[in-house]
Amino acid sequence: MKNIQLIGIVGAGQMGRGIAQVAAQTGYEVILFDAFKNSLDFGHSFIKTQLDKGAEKGKWSSDDAGKAYARIKPTLELTDLKNCDLVIEAATEKRDLKFDIFKKLDEIVKPEGILASNTSSISITEIAANTKRADKIAGMHFMNPVPVMKLVEGIRGLETSDETFNTVAAVSEKMGKTFVRAQDYPGFAVNRILMPMINEAVYALYEGVASAKDIDTAMKLGTNQPMGPLELADFIGLDTCLAIMNVLHDGLADTKYRPCPLLRQYVAAGRFGRKNGKGFHTYDK
Ligand code: CAA
Repeated sequence: MKNIQLIGIVGAGQMGRGIAQVAAQTGYEVILFDAFKNSLDFGHSFIKTQLDKGAEKGKWSSDDAGKAYARIKPTLELTDLKNCDLVIEAATEKRDLKFDIFKKLDEIVKPEGILASNTSSISITEIAANTKRADKIAGMHFMNPVPVMKLVEGIRGLETSDETFNTVAAVSEKMGKTFVRAQDYPGFAVNRILMPMINEAVYALYEGVASAKDIDTAMKLGTNQPMGPLELADFIGLDTCLAIMNVLHDGLADTKYRPCPLLRQYVAAGRFGRKNGKGFHTYDK
């Protein structure tokens, strides 16, 4: 297993900043990259706010919060990741963008470095095929909000080596997460199961089985979920849910994965969920 000390994070958005925070709090040195200054500054200061809030609530000491924050070095230069032992990519969920990032990382990062992706649906095997180190590529799928959710879904591409997979498992566990192992098939394990449930909830709404509020209440109180499926879809983003349903539908070629027309319609109308204030429910922006 490889000794990991320096972790690079690509993307300071919702997922990247959460991963950076947890990595720094568990003792890793972190370089946080984003291509856009606004996103980098916002992500970096968001981490400070979260660390300070946690200290105020007594979750950790303000000394530990300060030390964790000091371990995170923000950068706008991808080349600053060259000495990283592990890079976790958490950029926007677009195939071409991710392929391009991995091509660049493959050129930049030292040859023994492991490159992981936080993708929720893009094939790890295909990402790896864009590099010359397919044995050192793996999926590390964190859940949102990263500091709260206890899971990392590990995805093994066709060429991922045992050493790489065992290393990302050990890093996830050191970060306080439980690591589950999934093979590289559409949706992996979590979204293969979660997204059809959400899609079915949208069908129930579409067919008038119950109101959005009642569907969520039924599933929250009836099956002990922290959020109902439509509220969770809004939290994840309806555009993301639709993109993942399309991956399942295309990749598994089974009509049971067809995205609900109402989900398509909401996305076409620009109702993306919490992030822009309107999905199955409405939110203060
Ligand atoms: N960052 C850090 N901490 C956060 C947070 C955030 N964004 N949001 C909430 N928290 C913390 C709060 O500080 C609070 O901590 P304490 O109890 O220690 O004070 C705790 O979480 C609970 O928060 P709240 O009381 O404000 O709200 P809540 O009880 O309603 O919980 C929730 C919020 C944790 C988000 C909860 O509703 C939940 O677990 N929802 C389901 C989330 C889920 O399923 N996520 C996975 C989505 S799927 C995915 O990410 C993968 C994919 O590919 C689509």
